[in-house]
Amino acid sequence: MATDLIATAATAPAAERQAFIRIRDVRKSYGAVPVLNGISLDVAEGEVLVLCGPSGCGKSTLLRCINGLETINSGDIAVDGRSVSAARTDELQKIRLSTGFVFQNFNLFPHMTALQNITIAPVKILGLSQRDATDRGRQLLERVGMAEKADVFPFQLSGGQRQRVAIARALAMEPTLMLFDEPTSALDPEMREEVLQVIRQVHHDHGMTMVVVTHEIGFARNVGSRAMLLDGGEIVEEAPARTFFASPTHERTRRFLRAIVNE
Ligand SMILES: Nc1ncnc2c1ncn2[C@@H]1O[C@H](COP(=O)(O)OP(=O)(O)OP(=O)(O)O)[C@@H](O)[C@H]1O
Ligand SMILES: [Mg+2]
Repeated sequence: MATDLIATAATAPAAERQAFIRIRDVRKSYGAVPVLNGISLDVAEGEVLVLCGPSGCGKSTLLRCINGLETINSGDIAVDGRSVSAARTDELQKIRLSTGFVFQNFNLFPHMTALQNITIAPVKILGLSQRDATDRGRQLLERVGMAEKADVFPFQLSGGQRQRVAIARALAMEPTLMLFDEPTSALDPEMREEVLQVIRQVHHDHGMTMVVVTHEIGFARNVGSRAMLLDGGEIVEEAPARTFFASPTHERTRRFLRAIVNE
């Protein structure tokens, strides 16, 4: 059944699908400094939205608003039909639990092994038995190519390996939405590729909705369903990923893409 749903989500035209993330006129400032200036956006179930933009344009802030880590000043954000902004604490908790967040700097618990990093939340929050969580954790480590590293600590892992453990940790909560905030920007090129490959595979296997902040153009073009450029807290351009990268409409997007190609 799940496979049928994923197949439907992947093949139906975007306009016919119900928005999984629905963002309407969202404004957010830090003190007097405006960061998001009226963002409206729909992300359909199963889509991979690639979010690009210059440093400080509000990409991380937008991701954090989507799962309620930041509160917005006005507008509305709904995830899977639940309004994040209006949510009661218990509902917000549900939204957070069904959202995996992968950060640039991994954020693994340093005093726990790779496997313990993965099992702690399923045991403490979902109430899984230690044995079931361990079985699931080992399967996930295998899936991200880290089966041999179950019992080592984060400081004993390379950056790419840490990020793969962080992805497995997010998957252990069986999320319906994954948010990635520059998951490869702290890595050197070879490690980037291994992490991107894992993200690709996760989307292929699970088909869950993803929002990925990344400047990895090859990945964005191949895996992204849509891409958008955020600048000055506004959406400058939004298009199917292939069109966005091959023939952007706005001069600002062209300038931005030239700059990242020459990085
Ligand atoms: N907690 C905070 N308090 C005050 N200002 C903040 C806070 N978090 C972010 N900002 C400011 O909000 C703006 C947007 O920040 P954000 O982190 O969303 O940018 P970004 O697009 O993710 O940038 P980068 O590419 O460098 O990660 C920046 O000007 C930043 O200084
Ligand atoms: Mg950021």
